[in-house]
Amino acid sequence: MRSSIVHLAHRGFFLAAFLIVAMAAASGCTKHSKPNYIYMPDMYYSPAVKAQKALMRLPVEGTVPRGYTPYHFTSPEEAGKALIDPLPPTHAVLMRGQMMFNTYCQVCHGPAGLGDGNVVPKIPRPPSLQSDKIRNWPDGSIFHIITRGQNVMPSYASQIMPEDRWAIIRYIRVLQRSQHPTPEDLNALEADIK
Ligand code: HEC
Repeated sequence: MRSSIVHLAHRGFFLAAFLIVAMAAASGCTKHSKPNYIYMPDMYYSPAVKAQKALMRLPVEGTVPRGYTPYHFTSPEEAGKALIDPLPPTHAVLMRGQMMFNTYCQVCHGPAGLGDGNVVPKIPRPPSLQSDKIRNWPDGSIFHIITRGQNVMPSYASQIMPEDRWAIIRYIRVLQRSQHPTPEDLNALEADIK
């Protein structure tokens, strides 16, 4: 009894093996201009692609992504009147600003913001960040240029988070003060040297 079951099982196995080989041979011998038999077409033509194929789904009108603040200012003047640096006056903020300025701005604007970065003159020389214009600009106007860009200068909105933009502006103010020290700054420096 037991041996006949084993025998039947063997026969079944050989039959199945024969069928698989025959199917493989039959599907393999067609012309290659057409795809072969597609086993499980839903895995081949992924339903995930099908669902998106007609049109990428658009967010409901007026939707704002989490953590995203809409930016609607259209000129440095407008942004300068409305935006205020929200960061605390700490050493850490300044260090962060220095690191970000040296990473993103220095290549064009130069280490002190004079417009003498490494890529000049391959890229047109940018105006100095030490000019009277920028020294007298409110912080929000510089924020606007980093956010929107200006002519040849691209926007950095996708690379630099808003807090880091403010930190950069903080560092630019320090660079400006280093080139235009007040009499008190000079006295403090002399006292330091003595
Ligand atoms: C690819 C080179 C490049 C980089 C990088 C760059 N800038 Fe500029 N930037 C320019 C150029 C060129 C201009 C002048 C654009 C124009 O012709 O109006 C400019 C203009 C500016 C102005 C306006 C100056 C004025 O007098 O109108 C500010 C402010 C400024 N950049 C700040 C920054 C800051 C901050 C960063 C770093 C986040 C930065 N830029 C990165 C090239 C660059």
